[in-house]
Amino acid sequence: MPPLSSPECTLHGRTQRTTDMNQLASDHRHFPDASFTSLAHIPGKAGIPILGMTPALFRDFYGTINRHHAQFGLVSKIGIGLQKGVLVLGPQNCQQLLLDTERNFSSQMGYRDTAGTWFGGAILSRDFDEHRLHRRVFQTAFKFDAMQGYSEGINTIIRDALASWQGRQQIVFMPFIKELLMNVGARVFYGIDDLGDDAQRFADAFRLILDKGMLSLIRKDVPPLAYHYGQKGRRFVYQYLDSLIEDRRSSEGKDFMSYLVKSTRDDGTYFDNEELIDHLSFLFFAAYDTTSAGLCHLLMHLAANPALQESLRAQSLHLAQAEVTFADVDQLPGIEMAFNEALRLYPSASILLRRSVRPCQIGGVEIPAHTVLFMVPGFNHRMPQYWSDPETFDPDRFSEERQEQRGHKFQFMPFGGGAHKCIGMNFAQMNAKLFMHQLLRQYRIRLKPGYKVRSQILPTPCPPQGLPLLIEAL
Ligand code: HEM
Repeated sequence: MPPLSSPECTLHGRTQRTTDMNQLASDHRHFPDASFTSLAHIPGKAGIPILGMTPALFRDFYGTINRHHAQFGLVSKIGIGLQKGVLVLGPQNCQQLLLDTERNFSSQMGYRDTAGTWFGGAILSRDFDEHRLHRRVFQTAFKFDAMQGYSEGINTIIRDALASWQGRQQIVFMPFIKELLMNVGARVFYGIDDLGDDAQRFADAFRLILDKGMLSLIRKDVPPLAYHYGQKGRRFVYQYLDSLIEDRRSSEGKDFMSYLVKSTRDDGTYFDNEELIDHLSFLFFAAYDTTSAGLCHLLMHLAANPALQESLRAQSLHLAQAEVTFADVDQLPGIEMAFNEALRLYPSASILLRRSVRPCQIGGVEIPAHTVLFMVPGFNHRMPQYWSDPETFDPDRFSEERQEQRGHKFQFMPFGGGAHKCIGMNFAQMNAKLFMHQLLRQYRIRLKPGYKVRSQILPTPCPPQGLPLLIEAL
């Protein structure tokens, strides 16, 4: 039974706030999203009926966001997907949402209709104290020793995958890197060295969730609706992971799942299987498309810019080791800057979501309770106030001398910020360096003649045609 009124607390009303934040957090979830009419005082437009600005965003993502900003300012109403809410732009406003010192913004309710539908109990779908409790159990899995162990296994996978380039002149990079990262995820997250016959079925099931389920408009589990196929994929992934849990609890494995399934709550009990599977499947989702998108954009620019590619190669060849581990990754600053630059121009998570828990103000605009809030990291990443020549790929802007990213803490936010800041950031950066180090020492890459450097941003940022590349062994 929903409460009759929303909790009356504003940014300025700290003393009014109920002392029991957990109770408050659970109450706000019973409310539907704020209606578009309740946003009448906010400038902006929804776009076309039902789909809002989605078709325009698919056609030209940043052009559409820039025009919306030019017309309506940093805080404006908008319709994206089936959701209507408020677009929040600029580092200062994003900082308010992400640091959320007043606990005004729910990630769970922001993502309820997207990631939350498919990975409901994952940490991105938990708020406040409950989120902190669940996030804590992940920490062991990202400590130095664990990361060092992962890096050794990952190097083997990269070595085998790159060996398949021998004797070839061309490769389509996107499917290649996705398969590689699928194997990395299986080994590091689940302790599966060889996905074997299940590889294709697991990969297919995940793709059903991402490509069918998450893009479905009608949420009914009946064929031939896309939502049904997404659910079919989800059922396979969940059953598959469920079947591994008992084994991992008694194993000495150094994979993520083996750490996670042995974690206990404060009272010493294990987390439920369903909670564990939500975490484990979300990790895969969070790591897979994001890292592959980042690497695709990086390779696209290196292939387009031979001088830059050679300078990174020189850095890799300068190191004695043919394969680096987590302990060595600081010795590859050039790759780090170039990966950051790829994530600046094409952040893998194009839109971040929150929903207001109570009425508050953002950038001087009154926001009603339960308003869906959209952030676009890539807008901040291209603001001319903070970046010189923002549309140009220029990794050097992240160099010690220039440090352009230092103007505002949230002008560069490809990994988000605050309580939900990407827990896999170091893991993603390590993967990028392990992979690029091996690749640069073995192959030179070029774009096909006539190939245009650009990216489709939605549904997932990706260069055109999966990035066909010309390759040449060194
Ligand atoms: C280039 C690669 C990656 C990018 C750009 C990226 C981006 C992000 C962003 C923007 C968020 C914050 C979402 C929000 O606040 O709404 C996030 C959260 C998260 N990421 Fe990543 N991510 C990447 C790789 C990874 C990897 C490799 C893992 C796992 C090993 C991972 C696991 C997570 C998890 C679990 C969360 C939720 C954290 C929480 O709610 O506390 N990500 N990521």
